[in-house]
Amino acid sequence: MSALRWLASLLATAALAAASTESCSETWISFGESSFLLSSGNASWFDAFTECHRLGGKLASIQSQRENDFLHGMLTVCGVDKAWIGLTDAFINTVFKWADKEDLTFLNFGPGEPSGSGDHASEDCVEMRQDLEYQWNDEYCMVKRRFLCRKSTE
Ligand SMILES: *[C@@H]1O[C@H](CO)[C@@H](O)[C@H](O)[C@H]1NC(C)=O
Repeated sequence: MSALRWLASLLATAALAAASTESCSETWISFGESSFLLSSGNASWFDAFTECHRLGGKLASIQSQRENDFLHGMLTVCGVDKAWIGLTDAFINTVFKWADKEDLTFLNFGPGEPSGSGDHASEDCVEMRQDLEYQWNDEYCMVKRRFLCRKSTE
Protein backbone atom coordinates (compact mmCIF):
# COMPACT_ATOMS: atom_id res chain seq x y z
CA MET A 1 0.00 0.00 0.00
CA SER A 2 1.35 3.44 -0.90
CA ALA A 3 1.91 5.92 1.93
CA LEU A 4 -0.85 8.11 0.56
CA ARG A 5 -3.41 5.29 0.46
CA TRP A 6 -2.36 4.22 3.95
CA LEU A 7 -2.86 7.77 5.21
CA ALA A 8 -6.26 8.00 3.45
CA SER A 9 -7.44 4.73 5.01
CA LEU A 10 -6.17 5.83 8.43
CA LEU A 11 -8.14 9.09 8.13
CA ALA A 12 -11.27 7.22 6.99
CA THR A 13 -10.98 4.89 9.99
CA ALA A 14 -10.56 7.86 12.32
CA ALA A 15 -13.63 9.55 10.80
CA LEU A 16 -15.65 6.35 11.30
CA ALA A 17 -14.51 6.08 14.93
CA ALA A 18 -15.51 9.72 15.54
CA ALA A 19 -18.88 9.07 13.90
CA SER A 20 -19.45 5.99 16.03
CA THR A 21 -18.91 7.70 19.36
CA GLU A 22 -20.95 10.75 18.42
CA SER A 23 -23.82 9.57 16.22
CA CYS A 24 -24.87 6.59 18.36
CA SER A 25 -25.66 8.60 21.49
CA GLU A 26 -28.84 10.44 20.46
CA THR A 27 -26.94 13.44 19.10
CA TRP A 28 -27.90 15.63 16.13
CA ILE A 29 -25.40 15.01 13.31
CA SER A 30 -25.44 17.52 10.47
CA PHE A 31 -25.53 16.40 6.85
CA GLY A 32 -26.13 18.90 4.06
CA GLU A 33 -28.78 21.35 5.20
CA SER A 34 -30.30 18.95 7.74
CA SER A 35 -29.33 17.20 10.93
CA PHE A 36 -30.23 13.62 11.80
CA LEU A 37 -30.50 11.89 15.15
CA LEU A 38 -30.59 8.17 15.94
CA SER A 39 -32.62 7.37 19.07
CA SER A 40 -30.94 5.39 21.80
CA GLY A 41 -34.17 3.62 22.79
CA ASN A 42 -36.89 1.63 20.99
CA ALA A 43 -40.41 2.89 20.34
CA SER A 44 -43.51 2.19 18.25
CA TRP A 45 -43.75 4.33 15.10
CA PHE A 46 -46.31 6.64 16.74
CA ASP A 47 -44.26 7.07 19.92
CA ALA A 48 -41.19 7.70 17.73
CA PHE A 49 -43.18 10.43 15.92
CA THR A 50 -43.94 12.12 19.27
CA GLU A 51 -40.42 11.63 20.59
CA CYS A 52 -38.83 13.29 17.52
CA HIS A 53 -41.03 16.35 18.16
CA ARG A 54 -39.87 16.42 21.78
CA LEU A 55 -36.26 16.32 20.55
CA GLY A 56 -36.89 19.34 18.31
CA GLY A 57 -37.32 17.57 14.96
CA LYS A 58 -39.61 15.26 13.02
CA LEU A 59 -39.50 11.54 12.33
CA ALA A 60 -37.06 11.59 9.41
CA SER A 61 -37.87 11.90 5.76
CA ILE A 62 -35.16 10.71 3.35
CA GLN A 63 -35.04 12.84 0.23
CA SER A 64 -32.13 11.46 -1.79
CA GLN A 65 -29.84 8.47 -2.29
CA ARG A 66 -27.06 10.51 -0.62
CA GLU A 67 -29.16 10.91 2.51
CA ASN A 68 -30.05 7.21 2.43
CA ASP A 69 -26.32 6.38 2.13
CA PHE A 70 -25.49 8.69 5.03
CA LEU A 71 -28.12 7.07 7.28
CA HIS A 72 -27.03 3.61 6.09
CA GLY A 73 -23.54 4.52 7.34
CA MET A 74 -24.87 5.81 10.66
CA LEU A 75 -26.92 2.66 11.32
CA THR A 76 -24.03 0.42 10.30
CA VAL A 77 -21.54 2.20 12.56
CA CYS A 78 -24.02 2.01 15.46
CA GLY A 79 -24.87 -1.67 14.81
CA VAL A 80 -28.59 -0.99 14.32
CA ASP A 81 -30.29 -3.44 11.93
CA LYS A 82 -33.76 -1.79 11.74
CA ALA A 83 -34.89 1.80 12.30
CA TRP A 84 -38.15 3.68 11.80
CA ILE A 85 -38.23 6.54 9.30
CA GLY A 86 -41.07 9.05 8.90
CA LEU A 87 -42.97 7.33 6.10
CA THR A 88 -46.44 5.87 6.62
CA ASP A 89 -49.64 5.00 4.81
CA ALA A 90 -51.60 4.73 8.08
CA PHE A 91 -53.88 7.61 7.08
CA ILE A 92 -54.80 6.53 3.54
CA ASN A 93 -53.87 2.90 2.84
CA THR A 94 -51.31 2.50 0.01
CA VAL A 95 -50.73 6.28 -0.18
CA PHE A 96 -47.38 6.83 1.52
CA LYS A 97 -46.70 10.24 3.09
CA TRP A 98 -43.77 11.74 4.97
CA ALA A 99 -44.60 12.65 8.56
CA ASP A 100 -42.76 15.97 8.12
CA LYS A 101 -45.02 16.81 5.13
CA GLU A 102 -42.12 16.88 2.65
CA ASP A 103 -43.04 15.85 -0.89
CA LEU A 104 -42.39 12.21 -1.70
CA THR A 105 -39.75 12.65 -4.40
CA PHE A 106 -37.39 9.76 -3.50
CA LEU A 107 -38.65 6.19 -2.97
CA ASN A 108 -36.35 3.38 -1.88
CA PHE A 109 -38.36 0.28 -1.01
CA GLY A 110 -36.50 -3.03 -1.13
CA PRO A 111 -37.42 -5.77 -3.63
CA GLY A 112 -41.01 -6.95 -3.08
CA GLU A 113 -41.75 -4.05 -0.72
CA PRO A 114 -44.04 -2.47 0.32
CA SER A 115 -45.90 -5.71 1.00
CA GLY A 116 -48.75 -3.99 2.88
CA SER A 117 -51.58 -5.57 0.95
CA GLY A 118 -53.67 -8.70 1.46
CA ASP A 119 -52.44 -10.47 4.60
CA HIS A 120 -50.11 -7.57 5.37
CA ALA A 121 -52.71 -4.81 5.05
CA SER A 122 -51.83 -3.45 8.48
CA GLU A 123 -48.13 -2.92 7.72
CA ASP A 124 -48.43 0.82 7.47
CA CYS A 125 -45.15 2.21 8.80
CA VAL A 126 -41.74 2.19 7.14
CA GLU A 127 -38.32 1.13 8.42
CA MET A 128 -34.80 0.89 6.99
CA ARG A 129 -33.46 -2.66 7.25
CA GLN A 130 -29.94 -4.03 7.17
CA ASP A 131 -31.06 -7.25 5.42
CA LEU A 132 -32.35 -5.04 2.56
CA GLU A 133 -29.06 -3.12 2.52
CA TYR A 134 -30.92 -0.34 4.30
CA GLN A 135 -33.59 -0.03 1.69
CA TRP A 136 -37.10 0.30 3.09
CA ASN A 137 -39.74 -2.14 4.33
CA ASP A 138 -43.29 -1.61 5.60
CA GLU A 139 -43.86 -3.02 9.09
CA TYR A 140 -46.57 -3.10 11.78
CA CYS A 141 -46.56 0.35 13.40
CA MET A 142 -46.70 -1.02 16.95
CA VAL A 143 -43.38 -2.87 16.66
CA LYS A 144 -40.69 -1.19 18.75
CA ARG A 145 -37.59 0.01 16.92
CA ARG A 146 -34.90 2.62 17.21
CA PHE A 147 -35.75 5.58 14.99
CA LEU A 148 -34.28 8.45 12.99
CA CYS A 149 -35.31 12.09 13.50
CA ARG A 150 -34.55 15.01 11.20
CA LYS A 151 -34.45 18.80 11.53
CA SER A 152 -33.17 21.71 9.46
CA THR A 153 -29.70 22.81 10.50
CA GLU A 154 -29.92 26.42 11.66
C1 LIG B 1 -34.21 -2.46 21.39
O1 LIG B 1 -34.72 -3.65 20.83
C2 LIG B 1 -33.70 -4.54 20.41
C3 LIG B 1 -34.36 -5.68 19.66
O2 LIG B 1 -35.41 -6.23 20.42
C4 LIG B 1 -32.92 -5.00 21.63
O3 LIG B 1 -31.89 -5.88 21.24
C5 LIG B 1 -32.31 -3.78 22.31
O4 LIG B 1 -31.66 -4.17 23.50
C6 LIG B 1 -33.36 -2.75 22.64
N1 LIG B 1 -32.72 -1.54 23.08
C7 LIG B 1 -33.11 -0.86 24.16
C8 LIG B 1 -32.34 0.37 24.48
O5 LIG B 1 -34.05 -1.22 24.86
